[in-house]
Amino acid sequence: MTQRILVTGGAGYIGSTTCVALLEAGYEIVVVDNLANSSRTSLDRVLELAPGNLSFHEVDIRDADGLNAVFESAPIDAVIHFAGFKAVGESVAIPLAYYDTNVVGTINLLQVMQQNEVRNLVFSSSATVYGDPEQLPIPESAPLSAANPYGRTKLMIEDMLRDIAVSDPSWTIALLRYFNPVGAHPSGRIGEDPSGIPNNLMPFIMQVAVGRRKELVVFGNDYPTRDGTCIRDYIHVMDLAEGHLAALRALAEIGGCTAINLGTGTGSTVFEVFEAARRTVGHDIAMRVGERRPGDASACFADSSLAARLLDWRATRTIDEMCIDAWRWQSMNPNGYS
Ligand code: NAD
Ligand code: UD1
Repeated sequence: MTQRILVTGGAGYIGSTTCVALLEAGYEIVVVDNLANSSRTSLDRVLELAPGNLSFHEVDIRDADGLNAVFESAPIDAVIHFAGFKAVGESVAIPLAYYDTNVVGTINLLQVMQQNEVRNLVFSSSATVYGDPEQLPIPESAPLSAANPYGRTKLMIEDMLRDIAVSDPSWTIALLRYFNPVGAHPSGRIGEDPSGIPNNLMPFIMQVAVGRRKELVVFGNDYPTRDGTCIRDYIHVMDLAEGHLAALRALAEIGGCTAINLGTGTGSTVFEVFEAARRTVGHDIAMRVGERRPGDASACFADSSLAARLLDWRATRTIDEMCIDAWRWQSMNPNGYS
């Protein structure tokens, strides 16, 4: 029987890519998004890439009545919860907005799910819950900590979800801890459209390459790594989307509340990503080395063996593919969706 999945934040970067994967796999989807950081156009393009059964509700996850009406409009089998704010610097400047949207919004969603007897959930967590990691690669059992309000919202939600699963074993919850999602759908029609100046490395490089920014500043080259720049586990957003499908399929079998890393298991330095991007775009990209960014860990990459074991899922796409797809998206849409 066709399953109907509620996708919160489905108009966003990872959400829209996952919607394409869900429709291609034959799921029906109901998207809830208040478009705080996205555009309705992304969903039009999702349907153009994967014609299927998608309904959209412009609803804020903090609006209990609005959410309840969505649940009552059609039976839901499971929820993938992407909706939330995600910028670390902004979370330091406006922490209340982060606690409100991420924590209060999630509590609201969980209450409405409970009222409607929907207890299957895939949650967007982040490798940020590992803080400055002591062990590499990072296993799911590593100590958890948070260095900023954004990270604290993810930790609070994870704790809440663990408590709920203990209180009622009929809940099945996957806490997917993403490492560094980059790239775009290979069609170039949907991708990451950051508002303002991008915080993250790949969109920044691509905006310099397309002429929207002057130069990339590399945040420090005096780290104890092979070329002095920080190491991260970049994962193609298409691999990430497929990870969500694998988690949905495995939910019932896994049971309870389980944290699972979604990463490649391999780290790349900032210079390595920069070089791959330069090869891809085929011309020079302005770059200089600057000061370290406060709070950056020198290296962070996943132990991805649990995902392989529990979900039968592995990331397969290379850094070059990530750059090629990010560049196709950026050059076809130099100003994002606008
Ligand atoms: P995104 O901003 O592109 O998508 C989030 C979506 O949620 C947007 O469409 C936004 O409009 C929507 N939204 C925000 N507040 C809402 C509200 N109150 N009600 C309804 N919708 C709301 O971000 P993304 O990169 O696709 O991230 C998705 C999730 O993955 C987030 O929870 C984020 O914290 C998490 N995550 C992202 C990364 C990353 O690097 N992109 C890494 C780790 C975890
Ligand atoms: C950031 C967030 C983290 C979040 C993750 C994925 C911080 C401190 N951490 O981590 O919470 O989970 O994104 O969304 O913001 N870099 C440059 N120049 C730039 C931009 C980045 O040199 O202009 C470097 C950074 O120092 C880092 C690497 O590139 O070493 C990757 O940076 P970024 O994309 O911001 O990801 P994270 O640092 O992993």
